[in-house]
Amino acid sequence: MNSITPVLALDGPSGSGKGTIGQILALKFGWYYLDSGAIYRGLAWLAQNQDVKADDVEGLVALADTMKLICHVQEGDVAQIEINGQIITDELRSDEAGQLASEIAPIPEVRAALLKMQRRCRKAPGLVADGRDMGTTVFPDAQFKVYLTASAEIRAKRRFDQLKSKGFDVNLARLLESIQARDVRDSSRAESPLKPAGDAIVLDTSELSIDEVVARILDLVN
Ligand code: C5P
Repeated sequence: MNSITPVLALDGPSGSGKGTIGQILALKFGWYYLDSGAIYRGLAWLAQNQDVKADDVEGLVALADTMKLICHVQEGDVAQIEINGQIITDELRSDEAGQLASEIAPIPEVRAALLKMQRRCRKAPGLVADGRDMGTTVFPDAQFKVYLTASAEIRAKRRFDQLKSKGFDVNLARLLESIQARDVRDSSRAESPLKPAGDAIVLDTSELSIDEVVARILDLVN
């Protein structure tokens, strides 16, 4: 692992604002951006399309080993995700894709197969890495670690607005249930559970605007 290239590890639960904030910061710094959730979502999407079941560990690892994922950051919008040459951003954003991702994410062999791919994204001049275990497992030596959080209700409302604006047919109460279920699954798994790194700055974004969160992280990095 390159120990000099700077990494900003941005972790937190679903809907905490990591993706939006991470992309703004990556563009501001002129750094690369890693949406690690998209890797898990992408693998789940590939598995579903190729009829590989969530308990077929060998099949999932084979898919992970051959998956080529590119994250195209664009100002003012979600990153475009390309998997094996195909742009599939919207399909990956669905709540179902998030649920499927969190079902395969606890499998240690799957996490190990995806680890190298994530570490390869650390390239000069720097990387903003968003996920659950960026500061704890993938880049434990990251120079900057921030853990974003917010109440489940606020996170569900943010997801609701985001999915609605993309034309998805969504229900707020169901989204809240799904976010809470995913929180439990992500935080209680044995392998790389969702939790702040011991040396991370924890920021509750419930009452903060996007600009305020960005300003606080810029203060930290500067
Ligand atoms: O962040 P996002 O909602 O796109 O992540 C989808 C799922 O992928 C998460 O609920 C989690 O189970 C898994 N994930 C993970 N480790 C990461 C990023 C995502 O386990 N670094």
